[in-house]
This record gives sequence, C-alpha cells and structure tokens, in this order.
Amino acid sequence: MIDFELTDEQKLIRETAREFAEKEILPRARDNDRNERFDLELARKMAAMGYVGATIPEEYGGRGIDYLTYGLIVEEIGRVDSAMRTVISVVTSLVGTPIYKWGTEQQKREWLPKLCSGEALGCFGLTEPNTGSDAASLQTRATKIDGGWRITGQKMWISLGNYAKVALIFAQTDPEKRHKGIAAFLVPTDSPGFHSQPIHGKLGLRASDTAELSLDGVEVPDEALLGRVGDGFKVAMTALDAGRYSVAAGCVGICQGSLDAAVKYAKERIQFGRPIASFQLVQEMLADIKVETEAARGLVWRAGWLKDKGLPNTTETSIAKLYATEAAVRCANLAIQVHGGSGYVDDYPVERYLRDARVTTLYEGTSQIQKMIIGRALTGINAL
Ligand code: CAA
Repeated sequence: MIDFELTDEQKLIRETAREFAEKEILPRARDNDRNERFDLELARKMAAMGYVGATIPEEYGGRGIDYLTYGLIVEEIGRVDSAMRTVISVVTSLVGTPIYKWGTEQQKREWLPKLCSGEALGCFGLTEPNTGSDAASLQTRATKIDGGWRITGQKMWISLGNYAKVALIFAQTDPEKRHKGIAAFLVPTDSPGFHSQPIHGKLGLRASDTAELSLDGVEVPDEALLGRVGDGFKVAMTALDAGRYSVAAGCVGICQGSLDAAVKYAKERIQFGRPIASFQLVQEMLADIKVETEAARGLVWRAGWLKDKGLPNTTETSIAKLYATEAAVRCANLAIQVHGGSGYVDDYPVERYLRDARVTTLYEGTSQIQKMIIGRALTGINAL
C-alpha cells in the first residue's frame, strides 16, 4: 500500500527545518557565496539541530530518524542553500553511514558522536586527479607496516577536506586485485604527512569547502581500517548509495526554491500593465517547474521508502539522483527566465540555484554513471 501522507511528526520536522533554514541560513547565503566563505558556525548550528548525522542511531549521538524524514530535512536545507546542505550530505551519508555500517564498536564510539555533534567534520576521499568515474582504478597506495598501514597518494575535489578532522580514505593494497584490493581507512587529518589545499574558482557551491588532499606516507594503526582489506570498494559504493539519495533530496529543495521564487516574482512583476503571472507563457514555465519538482520528489520519497524498508535500492537511488539533479538544473534555469534580467544577478537566489545545481550532475557519480547503473540493472550486462 502506498501512503503519500506524512505523519504529524514528519510535518513538524519539515516545518522546523524550513524555519531554521530561513531564519539562520538564508540571511548569510548570498554573502557566503560571494565571498567563497565556508560557514563553520552555521555547520555547527545545523549539528546542534540534529541535522548532521540525523540517520545515525541515538546511542552514537545521532537522531535515529528514518531516511524519508532525513530527506525532508535535506530538501529544506537545500531549498535555501546547497552549500550548507552539502555539509549534512557528506558528514551524514558519506562518512557517518559507512562508519555505522562497517565500523567496529570502537570506531563508532570514537567518531560518530563527534560527527553528529559538530565537534568534528568528516570528508570522503575516493576521487583522485586521475580517477573519477572509474573509482576502482584509484592509485593511492596503502602498504602494510608493523601494527598498521602507510598511505601515500592524492585525493581531488574533496568536500570539507580543509575542515574535516577525519578523512575516509580509500587506498589500494594490491593493484593486481583491482577493486578487491581496495581498503578504507579512517585517517585523522592531523596525522603527520596529511595535507589539504583549498580549491577556488568554482562555478557554484562557492560557500562549500573543497580540497585537494595529499597523503605523504601517512601512518595509521590497524584499528583505522574500516571493514576488511578488500572491502573498501563496497564501503565506497554503500556510502554512495546513501550520498546520492541525499544529493537527490537536496536537489528537490533547489527545484522547490526555484518554484517558490518564480511564483513570487511572477505575481509581483508588472509588464504590459499586469503581473507577468497572468501571461500564459509565464504560467507554462511555472507549471513546468512544478511538474519537475513533484516528479523528483516522488522518486526521492520512493528511494527513501525502500531504504527504510531495508529493500534493495541502488537502482532507484540512481534514478532519483539522475532525475532530481537534472531537474534542479532545468528548474533553476527556468526560474531565471521568469525573473528576466533580475534573475541574472544575486539580488535573487535563482542564479545561485543554477550554479549550485550544476555540480550535482557531476559529483557522487555523473548523470552518465547513474544511467550506466540503471542500464546494467535493466540488462544484467556490465556495459562500459
Ligand atoms: N553496493 C554494494 N556493492 C556494490 C555496489 C553497491 N551499490 N555497486 C557495486 N558493488 C559491488 C559489486 O557487486 C561488485 O562486487 P563483487 O566484486 O563482489 O562482484 C563490486 O562492487 C564491483 O562492482 P562493479 O563491477 O560494478 O564495479 P565497476 O568498476 O564497474 O564500477 C561504478 C561501478 C558504478 C561505475 C562505480 O565505479 C561508480 O559508482 N563510479 C562513480 C564514482 C563516484 O560516484 N564518485 C564520486 C566520488 S564522491 C564525491 O563526489 C563527493 C565529494 O566529496 C565531492
């Protein structure tokens, strides 16, 4: 049976997230974007609200909420500012979730309460300068030493990499084994040999921190290994199943934000002696944004529902991520069209929506990678 009615608790959580986003994040979003400023204080406030690590069980410092409700929070934060939404997505889904799923009791106790409380941020170190979509060919090496591992390599486009206290680093232990040789490590970023460098000049998500990481013989103890040697690729893929859902939910927020801004502007803006909302061609654009938003939200809710039921959801998550991210680009672009010239400057949020939406079709698996995952599921053929 399908039930599209949210519970009273879910409605309250959504309402609270919307109020928080409008009161705390919105007043700072434009300036943070203009100044490429990562707002650590706001990140900590989001953690204090229980939004960071929200799906992690309470015994480890999280809120223990279901995926559908988590998606509602992520949508509301994404509706106002994707840069701050990225903090929730990365720390909760790409770092917290794999620690919870694959970690030892000691690893969970060490890191999860810190991540959920905002005391520590985390980052996800999979991508490398020469390894993007083909994640299994990563070149960072982990070599066994007495009592631990020595890691050497470079990581690229790492969200929160300059602020994280722990980095989930994927490294190859035996290149001949390809993905079966990959291991995941929880690396404290103050380890000797660990360096981060900010990446500037991005089209969008300017208020989100992005780093290039280099690990120069970083030594970690055996206890830093997350899962077993050879599990690393699956750790990454399960983290991305959670991360892609979060990105998709955030993009529903961009669609909804575009819709809200476009409707408001269309009713206020007078041309030819009447509000532009009274022109059929403008209403057509509003209707198109609305349909995209509802379609994306439906796909995200379905993926969240599957996750909550513990059912397989990789394909449905990729469908939601593919559709919602591409829809966010289309919706933001249409919202600019409704705003005319005013939409081209940052007096209104719609140009930021477009710039921020653009990367979501690239990171956490490009749209083409999502199509590949869907195509493989349809045919059973591992096409490249
Ligand atoms: N869950 C669990 N296991 C999975 C899985 C999943 N979702 N997907 C694949 N696997 C398993 C397979 O079952 C297989 O297991 P066996 O060895 O036991 O058979 C193994 O992993 C290898 O799978 P594939 O043969 O499918 O691997 P592949 O090399 O063909 O790659 C891919 C598959 C889907 C293309 C993958 O490489 C991929 O997702 N690439 C995109 C990488 C990506 O999204 N990067 C984003 C970086 S993070 C980021 O952007 C965030 C940031 O900070 C900015």
